[in-house]
Amino acid sequence: MTKHINDLIASRRAVLGGLVGMPLLSLAGCATSGPAAPNTSMNFTSVAATNADTVSLPPGYSFRTLIAWGDALFDTVSTEFDPDTLTRAEQEQRFGQNCDMLAALPYAHSFPPPRDGDRMILCVNNEYASAELMFPALERADQFSTSHLETLFAAVGVSVVEMERDGAGWRALKNAAPGQGFNRRITPFTPMRITGPAAQHPWVTAASAVFNANEPGAPDRAVACGTMQNCAGGTTPWGTFLSAEENFDSMFAGTADDLTEASRDSAFADDVKTHGYPARYIPSQIAPAQFAVANNPYGPALFGWIVEIDPYDPASTPKKRTALGRKKNECANTAITMDGRVAVYTGDDESDQHLYKFVTRGRFAPNERAANMDLLDDGDLYAAQFLEAGRGRWLKLTVDAANAAAEATGSPIRFADHGDLVMRVRYAARLMGATPMDRPEDVEPVIDANWRGDGTVIVACTKTTERAFDSPGNPRRESNDPTVAQENVVGHILRLDEANGDNGAEHFTWGVFALCGDPDAETLVQETRDAGAAHVSVAWNGQPTFTGDRFACPDNILIDSTRRVWIATDGNDGVFRDCNDSVLVAPADAVLPRPVKRFLIGPVGAEICGPLMTPDERAFMCCIQHPGGNTIAGVGYWRTRWTGAPPPSNFPDGGQSWPRSAVVVVTRNDGGRIGD
Ligand code: FEO
Ligand code: CA
Ligand code: CA
Repeated sequence: MTKHINDLIASRRAVLGGLVGMPLLSLAGCATSGPAAPNTSMNFTSVAATNADTVSLPPGYSFRTLIAWGDALFDTVSTEFDPDTLTRAEQEQRFGQNCDMLAALPYAHSFPPPRDGDRMILCVNNEYASAELMFPALERADQFSTSHLETLFAAVGVSVVEMERDGAGWRALKNAAPGQGFNRRITPFTPMRITGPAAQHPWVTAASAVFNANEPGAPDRAVACGTMQNCAGGTTPWGTFLSAEENFDSMFAGTADDLTEASRDSAFADDVKTHGYPARYIPSQIAPAQFAVANNPYGPALFGWIVEIDPYDPASTPKKRTALGRKKNECANTAITMDGRVAVYTGDDESDQHLYKFVTRGRFAPNERAANMDLLDDGDLYAAQFLEAGRGRWLKLTVDAANAAAEATGSPIRFADHGDLVMRVRYAARLMGATPMDRPEDVEPVIDANWRGDGTVIVACTKTTERAFDSPGNPRRESNDPTVAQENVVGHILRLDEANGDNGAEHFTWGVFALCGDPDAETLVQETRDAGAAHVSVAWNGQPTFTGDRFACPDNILIDSTRRVWIATDGNDGVFRDCNDSVLVAPADAVLPRPVKRFLIGPVGAEICGPLMTPDERAFMCCIQHPGGNTIAGVGYWRTRWTGAPPPSNFPDGGQSWPRSAVVVVTRNDGGRIGD
């Protein structure tokens, strides 16, 4: 099978090679044309596995903290950060907690994006708030008050930060006050616009009234629901930031009993079931009222969307683009198709959920930014169906097709209109035959300097503990016994190649980029810290998929301008206990087994998120999320926090300091390009 896929890829390239010169899309002012030459160089010394409580790098590389949770974004708050006296109002002016996705936009928008620049706008997701890591002086969990919870909510969302490079490297900039520059916090209290087909959905209407009653002052047609659980995301060619709302269930408080009345509607009951709200660990009595389902049963309908933010206008109202479907979105990465439309790839990060692609109806206008600003409201939404023999197709999700599929399978589910379909897109995708995946996280198309995709798409499937049989796209492999359903606790990475190298295509081929694990394992099954016995062989159909450094649980991905794939892990230490979460590098186009090298290892208890290169690729950035979230032995700090145990990490400030999620900048000591 592996050889077969490589052959397919090679033949597709031959076809594409004949097309790259064709003027399929007119991009005025293009910087370059054609793909960059593949770069397989990884001229750094692989970092040896470690549990050190710092950022470990190859010789010749250094890191600095760019910004960390609590750092002031404005002169209106003190440069001193005291997490024990933090309030909602103050947190709304300070960098949020648990940073995840990173995107850097040029200080002034232009297309195509410049390959250099000393001033940029950094957009950062603050995925969620770790209560155990927020208020160091609290001694018991029952000391959390309404005020603490409001502050905790305000630590979530998005932080927009100007950054500048001078002789000392990149540094974050403060603004004098909100609105006097690009710095901004967007939180679960910020007004939003709900746009696209579900804008008038009855659940949206009902929830919007509750949000606005509890958080008055939203502009006309806006809803003060904000955004939260912002995991990964993407950027658009017209200079906006896309933030993906993921595990929104965890921010709604209450019990199943609070939803009894609303659940008489089977569609709503199904929604509760698939997304799993409300969460049990936020007490209703101290949660913001609009986030208690007893007050706001339809509140969760306003989350699980892709949020589009214009970072060039700090007064702009972010827009939730419902046309892209409601799910636990990991990411939203874009590529221009051959005919000039824009494809947006999203992964629904939950076991047995799906991979999606949205393709705009309109075409990208390179010289008219304003004409692109609502492109994401109208287009076709697809879910991926993986087939045998390395084939696959994109299923167009329409009301007629989904209802016909429901009828054919005897399902009682019906979709009233397209707004209803995007609201409950998981059900539509499943009915139509989308493939249940092993938690698809980042989905990254390869794009060139003009944002044009060549059809190559890398998909990280982090892991799943659901037991199932192998299926196309999901080569689970916990034992060699094909009669037993298996888990996939180390994850895998797929490569898709869209038909004819066109990201607008409705068919693709697929192959395994890497089956995660240990290329040097002496036995197929290995005892792991968290995962029990895990199958760590990297072989697929009898052939190793990679050589080099072992790794598990791929999450966020960065593809650089020379087609090297940078892979950040979330949970590596749960499988390979001698190594904290890491960043690894592998060439996109290498013949299997592809070489993999470990470039960075994070501190204790942190996952690594949001890998990013500055446009000149002389600085690498990533987020160190929740340092101290667990001990080296794997004990979650939330378990020991209220016994008085010290935090398992002191990153980034060292000594006995309280840990803070942080963005770090990695550079080469000689100023050269990262990884070369
Ligand atoms: Fe927020 Fe799927 O990681
Ligand atoms: Ca993630
Ligand atoms: Ca993750």
